[in-house]
Amino acid sequence: MKFQQTVLVLNGPNLNKLGTREPDVYGNSTLAEINAELASMGEKNKVHVECFQSNHEGEIIDKIHSYSDNADLIGVIINAGALTHTSIAIKDALLIFKEVPIIEVHLSNIYKREKERHFSYISNLATAVICGLNFHGYIYALQYLIQVENGFKES
Ligand code: DQA
Repeated sequence: MKFQQTVLVLNGPNLNKLGTREPDVYGNSTLAEINAELASMGEKNKVHVECFQSNHEGEIIDKIHSYSDNADLIGVIINAGALTHTSIAIKDALLIFKEVPIIEVHLSNIYKREKERHFSYISNLATAVICGLNFHGYIYALQYLIQVENGFKES
């Protein structure tokens, strides 16, 4: 099979409800709109963007496992939703990606919100965390991954 750089975009519970779910907190864009934007950005840069959402922890873990030996994978963008704050199992699964940068994204600024949202099991294995920039967070994360893979280096 032909080599094609791939970015895996994972979204956890309730993120399928974007657009109608607490729009004052999460904005008006639907997940389908965000994914379409990411796919089109990927296409322009010849990067395949695979978007996966599940309300089930185990399905997210299975998806991560399915990429464990994928040499095409250049990065993972993950918004695990509430599982961010609770799931050691997702953290353990992500540890599979030793060389692959992981960017944690949250639409809302979790640090401005209730205390129970301040802790993330993912942050200390992520290359970066972007939160509070609404859907732009996903776009910036993808832009970074594409640039890094194409030799962009910060001075
Ligand atoms: C979220 C923040 C989480 O605390 C929450 O449970 C979500 C969405 C965000 O994108 O801001 O489902 O990850």
